Amino acid sequence: MGYRQRHAIPDLGVGVGLRTPHVAHVLRDGPPMDWFEIISENYFADGGIQRANLERAAAAYRLIPHGVSLSIGGTDPIDPGYLARLRALVSRVRAPWCSDHLCWTGSGKVDVHDLLPLPYNPETLSHVIDRVRRVQDELQVPFALENASSYMEFEASTMPEHEFLAELSERADCGILLDVNNVFVSAYNHGFDAEAYVDAIPADRVLQIHLAGHTHKGLYLLDTHSDHVRPEVLDLYRRALRRCGSVSTLVEWDESIPSWDVLSGEAAVARSVRDEVLGATSKEAAWGASA
Ligand SMILES: [Fe+2]
Repeated sequence: MGYRQRHAIPDLGVGVGLRTPHVAHVLRDGPPMDWFEIISENYFADGGIQRANLERAAAAYRLIPHGVSLSIGGTDPIDPGYLARLRALVSRVRAPWCSDHLCWTGSGKVDVHDLLPLPYNPETLSHVIDRVRRVQDELQVPFALENASSYMEFEASTMPEHEFLAELSERADCGILLDVNNVFVSAYNHGFDAEAYVDAIPADRVLQIHLAGHTHKGLYLLDTHSDHVRPEVLDLYRRALRRCGSVSTLVEWDESIPSWDVLSGEAAVARSVRDEVLGATSKEAAWGASA
């Protein structure tokens, strides 16, 4: 039995990241959207407006926490307080899974607020596997790691990223959040084959797919999340869907955030691609069937 089936991971359809400019509209008007991803750390506080907004949003929509500062590849001990707050958030919104990035974000308690790449070799693999097991033991829900975009590689790497991610997910028994835009960006920057990367990812471990826009900077691509998803990334998305099947998709737009209509239109584009590949009836009833 595959990982998604074993954990009864629902396909939520196509959602967007819930970002500040749209919170008031979403809470007041309840526009149609299959689901929302929320940045975990923004909702760790025990009270205040963020907690109030979270409660209202969770009553109306499916919310999935997505973290940016767990630092699963770092060498500082994983903060038990962080894990406790994440577990409380997951429980509060009844999330069927949560996610973070395959990266490190700092050292010696200094957080650089960036998703830094790791050297891909057996030593790093063992290190990350141990930490993923620790996180999953605490969270008690499936945990997925996302492939981050990168702009440099380590001479100490001895395996490609897709091989590291595949082996990590199997040995730690965790999920994968496949960001196809990040695959496209890193493939361009490092000169590897994006389609071969997607083809090598263990399909049944993919709990979620990310789509986003990037910016061409001349010599390299930058993962800016500031624009529409490019057609070539949608082609890679088609390939991922053919491989992974009925998997939740999330459109990220974090810079130059557009109007709600433009953002929801971008989700509609992704939804039409999904329908084209999977058929229009693939999505489970997003909230009612699995709540
Ligand atoms: Fe992403």
